[in-house]
Amino acid sequence: MKVCVVGQGGREHALADVLGRSCEVVVTPGNPGIAGSTPAPASEIDADLYVIGPEAPLVDGLADELRASGGLVFGPSADGARLEGSKAWMKEVLAAAGVPTAAHGSFSGLTEALGFLHTMSDLFVIKTDGLAAGKGVLVTEDRDEAAAAVRSYLSGEAFGDAGRRVVIEEGLTGPELSVLAVCDGCRAVPLAPARDFKRLGDGDAGPNTGGMGAYSPVPGAGADVVDEVMDRAVLPTLAELARRGIHYRGVLYAGLMLTPEGLKVLEYNVRFGDPEAQVVLPRLRSDLADLLAGAAAGALTDSPVYGDDAAVTVVCASEGYPASSRTGDVIAGMQEANALEGVTVYCAGVAAADAGRLGAAPTHQRGGELLTAGGRVLNVTGQGPDLATARERAYAGVTHIAWPGRYVRFDIAAEAVESSTRRESP
Ligand code: AMP
Ligand code: GLY
Repeated sequence: MKVCVVGQGGREHALADVLGRSCEVVVTPGNPGIAGSTPAPASEIDADLYVIGPEAPLVDGLADELRASGGLVFGPSADGARLEGSKAWMKEVLAAAGVPTAAHGSFSGLTEALGFLHTMSDLFVIKTDGLAAGKGVLVTEDRDEAAAAVRSYLSGEAFGDAGRRVVIEEGLTGPELSVLAVCDGCRAVPLAPARDFKRLGDGDAGPNTGGMGAYSPVPGAGADVVDEVMDRAVLPTLAELARRGIHYRGVLYAGLMLTPEGLKVLEYNVRFGDPEAQVVLPRLRSDLADLLAGAAAGALTDSPVYGDDAAVTVVCASEGYPASSRTGDVIAGMQEANALEGVTVYCAGVAAADAGRLGAAPTHQRGGELLTAGGRVLNVTGQGPDLATARERAYAGVTHIAWPGRYVRFDIAAEAVESSTRRESP
């Protein structure tokens, strides 16, 4: 099978790698660190299956366009992608489907928004209605900060048009969990659960980012929890979408909080998580291409098969992320990190030192240099028989990777390793 992956980040690198176990893979536009990258648009690539990575092309209708010309596409149509493209609409679907979520209001007028804010207490959560690359969420105990965010979002100053409508919701507490379900329009199967780290700093300090690391499996989130997510969130949502004439074929990613009152959906994404994909996909034992092709055809028959192993990924970001990002620095240590047992480096915000280096093999394997070219630059994934080993391997890989101002969190999966070690001790 020939598969065309659309996108250019670490998620797409992981998709290409795992699909490459059984298929020929091209990635558009990809990046110089991903084998098989090509600048040709998806519409000009003849493939048996198209897998669309990022949310923006889905919201813009790329899946519809490729389907209209006869392609088999894994990724929802623009109508389904609205789940991520508009948080206000997503909340409306959740309410109609009876899915538990945080109480909220959505507003485009400042007076109404500030009035609603004043009815709330303790923990304030302000979100852009539209897409903001994972950065449009503020969680704060400071009412003045929340009010200032509402002003800067609604004025367009902070996030342009994406923020001209805001969702204000009650703050929830509890551990978070990401469950990515592969859907074929009516049926769905879950991939292994993962936990990601959205805040920039160790101990969950600092601003929200696209994600600074992730691990899978998640201690305490066994089959019972995943079944509950499917029964209370994913399947009712798919049924509600179908009732509205939307046959959702793609990943439905439920971002959840396990609150003292039970699980609640914080958000839906309409794609694989980034960096969750970089831990969930490499752990897969069954064939990813068969699974996605079945879902894309509306005929999901396979269930993903996982072993008992674990994976941890650590994001290496450039100086200044997420507010800005320093670019153009030479990345050292890729080959050394990749050569370690159980370590894979996935490339995200990278460029080639000399142009025209996209090709069958990644630039750095052909003697070329990779440069930093974005906020999240690389993901170093460690795999092993348990979380402790996977974590050790990921951080061993990270020690080889260097450029001026390289930034990583050092506590990815630390608590999970501690809690699983505690459970194993007599
Ligand atoms: P979202 O993009 O909606 O997942 O939000 C990004 C992050 O903000 C989540 O992963 C949570 O850490 C946090 N967050 C979102 N909604 C809430 C909420 N209602 N209460 C507390 N934290 C939240
Ligand atoms: N890791 C969060 C996301 O993909 O949105």
